[in-house]
Amino acid sequence: MKQTHELVDTIQFEKDIKLTREIKVKAYNKTYLTHIASGRSAAVFLINDTDLALKVFHPYFASITKAETDIYRQLEGVHFYPKMYEAGQNFIVIDYIEGTTLFDCLIEGIPIKEETIYQVEKALHAAKNRGLNPSDIHLKNIILTPDETIKLIDVARFQQEKECQQWRDLTYAYHHFYKQEYFPKKLSGKVLNFISYMYKHNLLQVLTKNRKNNPVA
Ligand SMILES: Nc1ncnc2c1ncn2[C@@H]1O[C@H](COP(=O)(O)OP(=O)(O)O)[C@@H](O)[C@H]1O
Ligand SMILES: [Mg+2]
Repeated sequence: MKQTHELVDTIQFEKDIKLTREIKVKAYNKTYLTHIASGRSAAVFLINDTDLALKVFHPYFASITKAETDIYRQLEGVHFYPKMYEAGQNFIVIDYIEGTTLFDCLIEGIPIKEETIYQVEKALHAAKNRGLNPSDIHLKNIILTPDETIKLIDVARFQQEKECQQWRDLTYAYHHFYKQEYFPKKLSGKVLNFISYMYKHNLLQVLTKNRKNNPVA
């Protein structure tokens, strides 16, 4: 078996990045790795023939590695989060989580049950109990596993001080829109990305402006 840093050295990213787009991988060793997905700061690979995922940060975002490493250490033993096995300057090795992100559940039409939402709440409480401030909780960072449990990934912003509204807004949208009969349970990626774009640019506030009066949110 190769050393992790040798695998990391085979990964090449496209230099240009757009802060609103997923980063692109140009090349990597396909004998040892399979590219699972990318986020806005890193690419994630399955280490072939193992249950491990290798998250490698784009050079532009390499400084995030330390924050995520420290936070995974703080979360050790909390079963809602992958366990971390190794960390380097620009990578971490964590449990590979089999399943579907909630974002992809919406695209594939996999129903999102209330129980799933409660489990995410529990995961966030568990992180708070470890002294963290969960942030950046969005649908691509929550994985629904085949046994219908959830795992949260991408914890790099769990130490930020600012209060994050995102999960509260998502639960509001779940209870007030998704659960309604008229709401489509299968959406295209384009529509979801458009909703996310509108949300990030504060163009959906009109939908949640009564939230403070609502006990569910
Ligand atoms: N441990 C994992 N197991 C399976 N898939 C993962 C894992 N970690 C990340 N992913 C997939 O890779 C994507 C990007 O990973 P993420 O950690 O969110 O990167 P970023 O920090 O760039 O947003 C996730 O949205 C998810 O689809
Ligand atoms: Mg992410």
